[in-house]
Amino acid sequence: MKTLLKHLAAACVVALAAGPLQAAEKLGYLVKQPEEPWFQTEWAFAEKAGKEAGFEVLKIAVPDGEKTLNAIDSLAANGAKGFVICTPDPKLGPAIMAKAKSLGLKVVTVDDQFVNAKGQPMTDVPLVMMAASKVGERQGTELYKEMQRRKWKPEETAAMVITANELDTARRRTDGAMAALKAAGFPAKQIFTVPTKSNDIPGALDAGNSLLVQHPGVKNWLVVGMNDNTVLGGVRATEGNGFKAENVIGIGINGVDAVNELSKSKATGFYGSLLPSPDVHGRTSITMLHDWVVKGQEPKKFVEVTDAVLITRDNFREELKKKGLGS
Ligand code: GLA
Repeated sequence: MKTLLKHLAAACVVALAAGPLQAAEKLGYLVKQPEEPWFQTEWAFAEKAGKEAGFEVLKIAVPDGEKTLNAIDSLAANGAKGFVICTPDPKLGPAIMAKAKSLGLKVVTVDDQFVNAKGQPMTDVPLVMMAASKVGERQGTELYKEMQRRKWKPEETAAMVITANELDTARRRTDGAMAALKAAGFPAKQIFTVPTKSNDIPGALDAGNSLLVQHPGVKNWLVVGMNDNTVLGGVRATEGNGFKAENVIGIGINGVDAVNELSKSKATGFYGSLLPSPDVHGRTSITMLHDWVVKGQEPKKFVEVTDAVLITRDNFREELKKKGLGS
């Protein structure tokens, strides 16, 4: 009996010592728009990285400021040591950092950069993002190429550019697209911009409608926006205003958000999308955070994810598969 008790006691000591070491580290992954496949893909690849390295990813939707601050509290209460975030509003940056600091949580940002009270980027917070200007330029170049392939006359064509300039990554994409269109020879006076009130299809649809009524007499439209949903909203506006698919070329950004549209049995004005690497964003951001929490390894302040592939109705299944994103 005595030896049995001794053994039991020894086992308890071992279990106690091993307990905290074995407990999987918990890390948050907070995203502003969980309905976008873009963010679902980031989540999926962050979770994959977690499974491989033995940590748990707590996925939380944070569509507004209040939910964001509550999520940070609940992460801390659940024992998380840090989180990756794509903020619903860059201006929340200082409030998010203050709360995280008070709770001892580490923060890595993804996609959208925080700005301070003066509206300047908070460059001291680690950030993983796409090469926004370059992807935007590619959007402009590909639109011009497709317009030439269709032999559209520039004087009968205009560009609808749906902007979201308060979001730096969005502004850089649409600026890049307009610069590339002009550089290719597209007439600057036929490029029209309109801001969207929300970064979703309904917001962009409203923006597109208001732009179209101001420019009657245009035969063909190019549609530019910061991501797939924005361009989809613009394309829907052209449809509602009587334009046929053959008179509209929309090229989005994100790729994974364009799968439903590109799978439709008949072509629409949404010609294609630039597919960057949501898989890399998800994996890299959470791994940087994990290395920081576990090994004390300070992350780089800025990681830019380059290259994007143009997906269209012809190649999207194959291209998504190549990146391990196919269904
Ligand atoms: C922003 C957009 C998303 C996606 C990411 C990519 O957050 O809102 O749709 O394009 O950038 O970095």
